[in-house]
Amino acid sequence: MSQENKPGLEVCLSPALLHLYDLSQKIVVIIDVLRATSTICTALYHGASKVIPVDSVEKCMEIGRQLGAVTAGERDGHIAPGLEHGNSPLEYPASFIQGKTLVLTTTNGTRLLHMAKDAEEIVIGSFLNLSVLCDYLIRRNKPILLACAGWKDRINLEDTLLAGAIIDRLKSRFDIQCDAAIIAEKLFSASRKRLLENMQQASHFKRLTRHGFQQDIAYCLTIDQAAVVPVYRDGAIELA
Ligand code: MLT
Repeated sequence: MSQENKPGLEVCLSPALLHLYDLSQKIVVIIDVLRATSTICTALYHGASKVIPVDSVEKCMEIGRQLGAVTAGERDGHIAPGLEHGNSPLEYPASFIQGKTLVLTTTNGTRLLHMAKDAEEIVIGSFLNLSVLCDYLIRRNKPILLACAGWKDRINLEDTLLAGAIIDRLKSRFDIQCDAAIIAEKLFSASRKRLLENMQQASHFKRLTRHGFQQDIAYCLTIDQAAVVPVYRDGAIELA
């Protein structure tokens, strides 16, 4: 806690930098706007009983078989061979996912979740759950690390933007002494009125557009579309 008794808030812009932070007393917010954390929020908002994030396709298939669960995931934006479904949030309407367990493996997002295992608590962030997530973090009143999944350890625009959007809402209640947080907030302030337009330069925007997923991008930037707070505990993500 700072002198003013506010908990600290920091931002880690890439999984490659995560080792620099002490996670043990912190709530870590995992951010992978395009698209893992948006898909997790959507599936749970639509009634999935839980999401099990795994780091390999093999594990995904094995757990899927054991639990009779839906297996899903991507590598480089494509449905990974052997899995039934991809990482598009639009694949998980209530009519399909309600009451089911989703086992998910993705290139960056689910990997970062496993890397953050030493955190006191791990929650899932996206534009889709922005308001309820921020309300939850204010209520918890604990030190926070906003952890961006990026793309293969590189910093990306969309995750930095969401970190900035969260800071924009939390800055009066948290102590921010972190340059990465200042960068994220400034980026968000400059882009907030034209999020989708500003995203067009992003590498994953271009990658997903090439693969025909334009609708996913617009959906993933929709604020408060899936008002849930997913929490990762004992190997599964469920509602807080
Ligand atoms: C990831 O975790 O790498 C992603 O969410 C990629 C994607 O499916 O767009």
